[in-house]
Amino acid sequence: MKSPIVGSSPRTIGKHTLLNALVGREVGILSTRSRAVRFLPRQYVMIDLCAGNGLLDIHSGLSSPEILCKHQRFLQQKGIPVKVILIEKDLNTFNLLAKRKFQAELFCCDARNVNIYTNSIPYNATVFVHSDPNHIEDWPVSNTLFQSLPKYTTLLGTLGCNVGGLKRLSLDHRKKWFAKLDELLEWLPAWHDAMLVSLNGDKAQWAYIVTGPTKWHDSGRYISAVKKAFDYWPYGVTMVRYKTDKENFFALRDQLFYTSKEMSVRDQLFYTSKLFYTSKEMSDNV
Ligand SMILES: C[S@@+](CC[C@H](N)C(=O)[O-])C[C@H]1O[C@@H](n2cnc3c(N)ncnc32)[C@H](O)[C@@H]1O
Repeated sequence: MKSPIVGSSPRTIGKHTLLNALVGREVGILSTRSRAVRFLPRQYVMIDLCAGNGLLDIHSGLSSPEILCKHQRFLQQKGIPVKVILIEKDLNTFNLLAKRKFQAELFCCDARNVNIYTNSIPYNATVFVHSDPNHIEDWPVSNTLFQSLPKYTTLLGTLGCNVGGLKRLSLDHRKKWFAKLDELLEWLPAWHDAMLVSLNGDKAQWAYIVTGPTKWHDSGRYISAVKKAFDYWPYGVTMVRYKTDKENFFALRDQLFYTSKEMSVRDQLFYTSKLFYTSKEMSDNV
């Protein structure tokens, strides 16, 4: 077996490869305009909620703004209306980002302040959201944001569940994480599904969530994109879909959000307090 990977940078390679593949697929569809997807608004908006400084990562040679702007240029050449929205909350990081002079709308704010930047999103657009905070505590995706997004919106989200030992936070505090994920699941349109992806054997418990058309999930496109992106990861990845495999989806969520000690009494927690399951899960009898 290959030796374990330490540090966070090697994960960036997979994250950027996956981002590039997911956006590239949507851009390809919008630019060829096959009959099957002619209903999609031919106006594309890519929103990077946690843009960072835009400098090229030493491992991947990329940054998320760089990737989004590359796809923007491609659509522009095809004459398709497109824009990139970059949001970064840290002022110093934002200043570095601004220096890169990306052709994008830039906002220096916490992406949880949805009203600051959502006016900029046309309602009749196809939208891709990238949510890539440093760890789950900064997760900016919320119900309020979902209410402001057009109906054809897909998402790639990064969840760092134990970065710097985050799981030492009290369970009471971590209950918010469950609620955040619930908001996302409740927002999913009927024709979309979500897939949770976790890096096996990762102490920081990095995970990703990919949402998009059920058809694309069914065809295995998301699975193959993830496999390709993380083929270098020594212990492999776990991927579970929400709508088709709720039991394992929530089992993986629990592994990410609970400590191992809590996991050993998880069933007891479930049956005695039912604290950590949504009403939806209850009614689905998961
Ligand atoms: C992992 S880095 C982003 C890397 C970048 N997405 C990339 O792949 O090139 C996370 C960045 O998101 C910013 N950030 C975290 N939470 C945020 C939030 N709620 N709103 C806006 N920016 C946020 C942090 O300041 C940090 O610069």
